[in-house]
Amino acid sequence: MLTGEGKQPRIKRYKIGQQEIVQADCLRVLKRMPSHSVDVVVTSPPYNIGIPYRHYPDCKTESEYLEWIFAIAHQIRRIIKPNGSFFFNISGSSIHPWLPFELMVRLRALFVLQNHIVWVKSISIGEESFGHFKPLNSQRYLHHGHEHIFHLTCDGSVQLNRLGIGVPYKDKSNIVRRGHKYDKRCRGNTWFIPYPTVQKRSEKFDHPALFPIALPEYCIRLHRRENTYENVPENLHVLDPFMGTGTTLLAAQNLRCTGVGIEIDKDYVSIARKRLREMFCEMS
Ligand SMILES: C[S@@+](CC[C@H](N)C(=O)[O-])C[C@H]1O[C@@H](n2cnc3c(N)ncnc32)[C@H](O)[C@@H]1O
Repeated sequence: MLTGEGKQPRIKRYKIGQQEIVQADCLRVLKRMPSHSVDVVVTSPPYNIGIPYRHYPDCKTESEYLEWIFAIAHQIRRIIKPNGSFFFNISGSSIHPWLPFELMVRLRALFVLQNHIVWVKSISIGEESFGHFKPLNSQRYLHHGHEHIFHLTCDGSVQLNRLGIGVPYKDKSNIVRRGHKYDKRCRGNTWFIPYPTVQKRSEKFDHPALFPIALPEYCIRLHRRENTYENVPENLHVLDPFMGTGTTLLAAQNLRCTGVGIEIDKDYVSIARKRLREMFCEMS
């Protein structure tokens, strides 16, 4: 369908629970969003490594790709609140190992890199393996077991709720000895989040590059301060400009935050709507 904006397709919007899904090109939608209106952005863009999405061709030239992501990040810098957090998940490939770092160097003009989190997807400790192993047929390159989550903020001074995703002390005597209030310590900047085991593609919602729901949940909970008097978590507004199958919105809904997800592919929008509707039915 066409509008008065030349040949641009109509922007479609769907509301499910506290979440809004927008079917359109994200740059176009971001340009229309009000300044300082979002608390947390969690997103994973296409990595420009030839992933077979249903419609989006993941193969820009490197300079086109860098300029495109910079333009999107520029809008995010405008839209995010001054004390907001932008969690940017990306990975390079064996052929393009510099890409995430090139991108971060560009984004220095817009953001401070407050934390660099390593998302470990699979790991071997001694003879034990944990998480999914995706074989890589190469004599030169190692299997890819981790990705980056860059935590970008406007000035590097955002106060985080580290114990919101804290882990219990192994040695409980540390709690009294060091005068801690809770049996929790900071999780650190290495997050082990394996994918749930699946047998079929359909269990991954027919999407080649989704992240586990725990990933956006950790990001939101890390940013979300608690009102200490009433023990009520802050109401946050969350954005994912590359929503895919809606995982970030599911996390936002789980945590009772409002959210907006933007996705260009109508098939992925349908999947996100279905996932959210199912979750909303379970919750209500
Ligand atoms: C890495 S995936 C995100 C997956 C998501 N995190 C999930 O868990 O489902 C990137 C998504 O960006 C979408 N995309 C590509 N270009 C876009 C654009 N210009 N605007 C909005 N979405 C776009 C692709 O269709 C793809 O679904």
